[in-house]
Amino acid sequence: MRKKIVIGNWKMNKMRSDAIETVKELYAAVGDPSEVEYGVCPPFLYLSELVRENTVGIGAQDVFWKDSGAFTGFTSPAMLKDLGVKYAIIGHSERRGRFGKLEVPESTIGSFAETDETVNLKLKACLAHGLIPIVCVGETLAEREAGKTDSVIGGQISGALAGLSDAELDTLVIAYEPVWAIGTGKVCDAAEANRVCAMIRSCLPASLRGSIRIQYGGSVNPANARELFSQSDIDGGLVGGASLKASDFAEVVRAAI
Ligand code: 13P
Repeated sequence: MRKKIVIGNWKMNKMRSDAIETVKELYAAVGDPSEVEYGVCPPFLYLSELVRENTVGIGAQDVFWKDSGAFTGFTSPAMLKDLGVKYAIIGHSERRGRFGKLEVPESTIGSFAETDETVNLKLKACLAHGLIPIVCVGETLAEREAGKTDSVIGGQISGALAGLSDAELDTLVIAYEPVWAIGTGKVCDAAEANRVCAMIRSCLPASLRGSIRIQYGGSVNPANARELFSQSDIDGGLVGGASLKASDFAEVVRAAI
């Protein structure tokens, strides 16, 4: 039996006091239910203070793969682990330069340079340091319309998992986030999201198929969460906009119970 996992990805939102207040409110509303694991991934600046709250699980929105060295602006998995951070999101489509809603000049897309290879390096580093990795995969609208959804995602999964043994992968969480559903209000139909999550499951090593948790992400909200989370192959959600307000996110988390 897989325990559901619901994680809020705050992206580049909130000032410090609001971040602390939101976590306090969220924990007051949800507490420590045994049926669901939950947490939030705030901007890096607030990780330290939110970990010290010692309430909900705290994750990073990205991570580098080296332990230390001359890598200006990066944060290592060793540093995150040392701080008490529990999760790290890897390969989010916004870091791969694949946006559901384009809000940057197209000429700057090269600045968002995550690839299957960097995802693989980051995944290995997280697993080596005991961080729970949340690896994001998903197709763009153009890929879906061209009938390439399954092959694109299959490629992302095999690229991410390359060279890792079954035993190393046991804490892995995968988030299926169709790019066209992110921040657009266009949620993927629950049956189709479940079909893709089952397809992802079939790409996993046989010994882990029953235990690895696969989240759905993309315009999850309090109104649609229960239907999504009740699908057989969807084990919770990675939630953007609806995780910013504690009362909304509390409802989404409770929808997994
Ligand atoms: P939204 O829930 O805002 O669509 O964002 C989803 C997402 O990208 C979570 O990582």
